[in-house]
Formats: sequence, structure tokens, C-alpha cells
Amino acid sequence: MTKTELINEIQKLKQEKDAVILAHYYLDDDVQALADYIGDSYYLSEVATTIPQKVIVFCGVSFMGESAKILNPEKTVLLPDPTSDCPMAHMASAENIQKVREEYDDVAVVCYINSTADIKQYADVCVTSANAMRIVRNLPQKNIYFIPDQNLGRFVAKQVPEKHFIFNDGYCPVHVQMTGELVAKAKAEHPGALVLAHPECTPDVLEQADYIGSTSGIIKYVTDSAENQFIIATELGVLYQIRQNCPDKQCFAVIPEQICPDMRKITLEKVASVLRNFDHTVEMDAELSQKAHAPLIKMLELARKE
Ligand code: 13P
Ligand code: SF4
Repeated sequence: MTKTELINEIQKLKQEKDAVILAHYYLDDDVQALADYIGDSYYLSEVATTIPQKVIVFCGVSFMGESAKILNPEKTVLLPDPTSDCPMAHMASAENIQKVREEYDDVAVVCYINSTADIKQYADVCVTSANAMRIVRNLPQKNIYFIPDQNLGRFVAKQVPEKHFIFNDGYCPVHVQMTGELVAKAKAEHPGALVLAHPECTPDVLEQADYIGSTSGIIKYVTDSAENQFIIATELGVLYQIRQNCPDKQCFAVIPEQICPDMRKITLEKVASVLRNFDHTVEMDAELSQKAHAPLIKMLELARKE
């Protein structure tokens, strides 16, 4: 089947099955081009609560599909590749959360949305890289146990010095490959280019950044900037949208390996296949879903407030 035939089949299946396609900015260009909604983690979780279609094809890693299902238990959520799983999503434990809760009375467990429902169920509130700072700042608790990502946690802690943070040791294997040394090398190769970094990068990278933000923040920064050259310290899938918005601007990678292997497992063929067969639906235990729903809803409420 040619690519055009495949895309036509997907469009036809979408109509027949009352389906909508959501894709994260880290997906392959072909999948982003086909999606009805493309965005960062916050936007996708928010949009999932407002769409009328009965079926959501979630082109992203499994915690994203899981969150969409928790927020919309009555909808069918399909994952084109159910093995597409973010390693960081597993890097926190119920035991450690319990220990911290025993040690501190006045503590909020703040859980990055890049986490499994198994972990989310023990959290007070979820956050994404786009809203973490604002949400943490407005929490009544003095102590913040930030899970699973230590780098986003430390970045937020710097912006919110009035809180006491307890960190966890999770990290994103894709973002930590970009070291401070490699960013300095990229800067030497492209003098004058601004460095734009995702807060999942390590502190030595963030120290050199002209802008730190979520995937949508980075795309917006390039689009709105009067500058023309940028070093991009996040997954290179963001370049698709940057090229749509401003094809004449130049973006440079820090290293060629800035690719999330799990996000990139999703292909047009797998989108077509899951729509044909409905074989990878997200199924959630009702009790777990209910427990993980509370911190997600709290995030949406707090983020909508501001
Ligand atoms: P965003 O929330 O910025 O889209 O990032 C998601 C992610 O997985 C980063 O690695
Ligand atoms: Fe997870 Fe990192 Fe991939 Fe984002 S880029 S989905 S944090 S492994």
C-alpha cells in the first residue's frame, strides 16, 4: 500500500468508527501531519476531555493513553503500539511515597504526568512541564515531594524557593544524553544561536539555556522570536511544527540521538491497524482509575484557574 493509500484508509476508518487522532510533538512527521490534534502533554490531556468523538487514537507513550482513558472512562482509547512506554514513568515507588508521607506532615506529592497510573494514584496533584511551576507555587503545603523526574523537580524548585523540595531519582534517558559539555560544543559551533531546553535536561544544560520550557513553549519561542538560529535541547520531533510555523529559521540539534525510541515506535501502519482491528484498547482497573483520576483532575482545575 502506498503512503497516500494508507492515509486515505485512515481517514475513512476515522469517519466510520467516529475516531479522532491525538499526537505528541515527539512523533514522526508523518503521524503529526495526519493528527487532528498535536500538542504537548498538557494540551493533549486537556483536549482529550473536550472532544466529541467516541474513539481516541492516542499517538504517544502509554502513560498518555492511560491518562486519556482515566479522564474519559466512557470512551475507547486506542494505542497504536502498546509497547511504547516512557521509562521515566516507572521511576517512582509507592514505598518511597509512603516514607516521605510518614516523615513530613505538611507535604504534597506532586507527580509529573510522565508516570504510570500505579504511581499517580498516590499523588496529590499531577503536573506537566507547562504548568508545574504555577501549580506548585499555589499549593498550600510547604514540603513538595516531586516525582518521578529529578531534573524537572530541581528546575521547579529553583523558581519556587519558598517551598522545601524532596527529590526522587527519576530521569528521562533521552534528555540526559545532552550534557552541558555537548551543549557548550554546539554553542561553539553555532555562535549566536539561542539555546532552548526542555526542563527534563540536566542542570548543567539548563544553566546554558536562553529559554527553558515545555515542547509547546519551545515551539512558540522559536515561532515568536526575532532571532533566526536555535540550538534545540529536546526531542527532535518538535522540528516538524517549527518547520510548519517558520520554515526559514535554522534549528540545530545538540546530538543526533535526541530521539525518543518509544514515541517513534508509532507509525502510520500501526495507526491504520489499530483502527481496523481495535486490538490495543487501554483497559483500566476501575478502582485504580478512580484513584489516579483525582490528581489529574486537580491539575486540570488548577491549570485552568490561572
Ligand atoms: P511536554 O509535556 O513538554 O510535551 O513533554 C513531554 C515529554 O515526554 C518530555 O520528554
Ligand atoms: Fe519519556 Fe523521555 Fe520519551 Fe519523554 S522523551 S516520553 S520523558 S523517555
